Parts: sequence; structure tokens; C-alpha cells
Amino acid sequence: MSELTILGIFVADISFSGDKIPTIGETILGDSYNIGPGGKGCNQAIAISRLGGKVNFISKLGNDEYGKLAINELKKDNIDTSNIIISDKHKTGVAGIHVDRNTGKNSITVVRGAPSSLTINEIDTDLITRSKIFLTQLEVPLDVTLHCLKIAKKQGLINILNPAPACELTRDFFELVDYFTPNETEAEFYTSIKISDENDARKSANELIKMGIKNVIITLGEKGVFYSNGKEEIYIKARKVKAIDTTGAGDAFNGGFSLALLKGKKIKDCLELANTVAGLSTTKLGAGDSMPTLNEIDMKI
Ligand code: RIB
Repeated sequence: MSELTILGIFVADISFSGDKIPTIGETILGDSYNIGPGGKGCNQAIAISRLGGKVNFISKLGNDEYGKLAINELKKDNIDTSNIIISDKHKTGVAGIHVDRNTGKNSITVVRGAPSSLTINEIDTDLITRSKIFLTQLEVPLDVTLHCLKIAKKQGLINILNPAPACELTRDFFELVDYFTPNETEAEFYTSIKISDENDARKSANELIKMGIKNVIITLGEKGVFYSNGKEEIYIKARKVKAIDTTGAGDAFNGGFSLALLKGKKIKDCLELANTVAGLSTTKLGAGDSMPTLNEIDMKI
């Protein structure tokens, strides 16, 4: 049995690394590329599994080469793939990613493919109810996400929503969520507060709490992470690393955080661990491929 269930997408990430991100109309010569697992749900599942967690991934793939790549990669990382639907009618998704190797910053276009057609009827909710934590993002259709959050909440699971990419959500989403984990841009989308420091993050978190969220975690990139539940606040600085690709850092954070929470760690320890996992993930090219193992993080979970 997997104690963590993730609903999300797999896409094949095709990443190009170079001296800059090309601007419109420009062609540049890059220096390396990577084709590997991507999609926020998939990356989060890999992060958890490499840290030693048992994870079940609910998703949908096409019956094609990238679909086969997905199953191979997920199995290699010991992720339970028995709930992945293979569709003959849809293609597996792809993301095109440009990475500036000097800063690690990127720009991404995701074509979701098969999971954009996922329906409520296709979801095996038994798997969710047998878990302890349900983790999801906003890359599968919203009605499916809401349905699964409701099932999980009814069964007493901890719901973690990584609201990425940000989109309009109804209040019931906020009330079903135990931990809401936007980055600074996504937090700004929901609160209209531009975040450039800890104080802005605090204001934004307070607004999100007023919307019905219990625990807010705003990841701030190289500035660290801010947590609030309305009573307790924690701010942790980011680890100093030489970042070459920040793609998937948020996923590394969510994976590390979820597993630490599952293991009953105190909130501060969960944030510290997630911060470390996220930092290390930026030192390699790729998203799923860059998730560190338990040995690499040198921390106990
Ligand atoms: O969070 C990073 C991920 O977002 C990438 O792997 C890309 O595929 C998109 O889903």
C-alpha cells in the first residue's frame, strides 16, 4: 500500500540549456539538452520515492514512445504505476523548456496531452482512501482535482495542493486543502500582493488564510520559504547552491515536504528538509531527473 497518493501529469520534458533564454525571433546555439521525466505530479512522485517514500501516481498517458518512457522511468524509481491509464486516443504530453545555465532560470510550455482528457469516472478512488496524504497540483482538469480532494478529505487524509500553474479556484478548494504551497508568483495570483521579501510573503499568507486555507507555505526561490497557519510563522532561508536549472525545484520541495509530514516531523523540520531537497534539485539539468536521493541530502527522514 502506498501511503502517499499523487494525482498529476507526466510529460516528457525536453530541456535546452544555453547562455540565455532566446527572445522572440532569436536563434541561439545551446550547449546541452536533456529528455527526461517531467510534469509536476511525476516530478513530485520521483522526489518522494528517491527519498524512500512509497508513492502511488494517478495519471494518464498515450500509447506511444513517450508513454513507454514514462512507465520505464516511474518503475525505475519504484513508483506504483498500476493506476496510470493508457489511452489509445491521446498522445503523451511534452514540455519544451529553455534554461539559462548562468542563473538556472527557465521558461516552459507544457502540452499536457492525455491527462487533459482525464475524467472523474476514470479515477480509482480506493487508492486515495487507502493513503494518508493526497498531493496534487493544477495540471489535470479541475473537476477531477476537486473530486479527489473531496474523497480524500472525507476519508480523513491530509490534502496538499501545490497550486501550479495558478488558475481561478472556487472557495471549496481552499476549504478542502490542509497545506497550500504556491511559489511567490502563484501567491501573487491569488492575493494580488507582489512578493519580494518575507514581509510581503506574510501579508500574502494572511490573505490566503482569510480565504479559508489552514496552512500556507510560500516558496520564494533563492529567498527561501515562508510558512504561516495564522498563529505560528516560520521563515527559512534557501540553501546556498550553484543552481544550473531550477526546473522542478518546487516539485522537489513539495515531495520532500509531503514525505517529512507523513513521517510525523514537526513543521519546521518538514520545511528544512523540503528546502534542502529543492536546493539540491537545482544543481542538475532536468526536472524528474534532478531529484536527489536520500544519500545525497544527508538528512534523516
Ligand atoms: O514544475 C516543473 C514542471 O512543470 C516541468 O517538469 C514541466 O513539465 C511542467 O509541468
